[in-house]
Amino acid sequence: MYLINRRKFIFLSAATAGAILLPQCANGTLSTPSKIATTQTTSINGHLDIDLEARPATLNLGQQQAHLITYNGQIPGPRLEAKPGDTVRIRFTNRLTQATNLHFHGLHIPPTGTADNIFLRVPPGGTQTYEFTLPKNHPAGTFYYHPHLHELVAAQVFGGLGGIFVVRGALDDIPEIRAAQEEFLFLKDFALNANGQIPVPGHMDLMRGREGSILTVNGQVNPTFALPSGGLLRFRIVNASTSRFYRLTLEDHPFYLMATDGGAIAAPVELQELLLSPGERAEVLIQGNRPPGEYRLLSLPYDRGGMGSGMMHGGRMGGGMMGGITHSSNTTQPIAIVTYQDAVAQPLPLPHTLIPVETLPQPSQTRRIEMSMAMGMGNGMGMELAFLFNNQTFDMNRVDAVVKLGTVEDWELVNLDPDGMEHSFHLHTNPFQVISRNGKPDPYQAWEDTLRVRANETVRIRIPFRDFAGKTVYHCHVLDHEDLGMMGMVEIQG
Ligand code: C2O
Ligand code: CU
Ligand code: CU
Repeated sequence: MYLINRRKFIFLSAATAGAILLPQCANGTLSTPSKIATTQTTSINGHLDIDLEARPATLNLGQQQAHLITYNGQIPGPRLEAKPGDTVRIRFTNRLTQATNLHFHGLHIPPTGTADNIFLRVPPGGTQTYEFTLPKNHPAGTFYYHPHLHELVAAQVFGGLGGIFVVRGALDDIPEIRAAQEEFLFLKDFALNANGQIPVPGHMDLMRGREGSILTVNGQVNPTFALPSGGLLRFRIVNASTSRFYRLTLEDHPFYLMATDGGAIAAPVELQELLLSPGERAEVLIQGNRPPGEYRLLSLPYDRGGMGSGMMHGGRMGGGMMGGITHSSNTTQPIAIVTYQDAVAQPLPLPHTLIPVETLPQPSQTRRIEMSMAMGMGNGMGMELAFLFNNQTFDMNRVDAVVKLGTVEDWELVNLDPDGMEHSFHLHTNPFQVISRNGKPDPYQAWEDTLRVRANETVRIRIPFRDFAGKTVYHCHVLDHEDLGMMGMVEIQG
């Protein structure tokens, strides 16, 4: 019964490009698999060719009507799927009242021209064709597109913009993974006032990074995913929230981590909890080997430090000067339901191995990047707030690191935040491996592009700069921090 319904939805959603479809099920409440509000756009004969429009839309978030901004009228935006070697052409139109642009988070493509060039600016009413080719050896993985115009990123992402970009490849061909039921989880939090509008952030919202109390998965509140009894469920999870860190657990089921930001790890790793900072992705397998029933996917409390965290208890920040957005990462909230469905014919085993992760050569250079913030009284009414790398805010006209194409570097990321806040470090263009945290070797080798750096922590990462010359950036993916200066420029010289 369920399977038939689900197939129908996939068919409908593919056939009606862009329309929002709501599952219609006679008795459907909690147990109704309730996603598929998103179209899928897959490359054909090596080409992915789509029209993408940033525009306002009124959507339902749970019971509330919300005035949001979207790609093609939907949240998440259309899921784009391509294979290594494919060419991608996105004809982008900006129907917002302010400028915007696109960034392809995690893709290993040039940071220049019409590829992943965040220095492009598309004015209101303007268009831009983004065009690039995925390298033939691009790893399979779950990536993320979102706006990236400096100083407007947090508001535009919090307003609703973002979508998933999938690269299908070797990981997807592993038989056990191929047999798993695949689901995407696009995690986004929202805050709304009584009129369904997003409130204006206050000082504390900017300082901590804005979080909302409405937690959505694929634009829905508490959707249901089906797990075939005896089978495997593959979750491809994107933290698409502006500032919220997710600490996830599924009742009675461990996660088997199989991919991080940049693609597969060597073998599945059992986890009781999965922690994702803003911009991070992970893929996990879940075994359907428990008594059939409904299990809740929980977002657990998470303290990201800083003086705001003590004030968060009680859930709601004061209004007025302190800002109008609710902080609630100190509570446990169910965000989705996993419900058992008909048993598979043959129980599915977990894969023993996935894809080997290469060991990078020793670095030819080491750099130190300090993360901190500064706060003081401005000339006007309010406080002035700046987030810093090596004591500087972002400057379009300054290059912070010149690196040579064809080299490997180690970067030491040091969190000296005087307020003790955690940051989420992200580098464009080139994924990296984590070597150590506070001198302790990282437990497993994985490709990352976004990672947490806790207060007083030093994280050493190793980055190969192999193939794309040009200017690119690194920044904190707590996007309010990025907008308030926490970004630096790298020039990769050929
Ligand atoms: Cu997802 Cu520069 O960011
Ligand atoms: Cu990015
Ligand atoms: Cu930060």
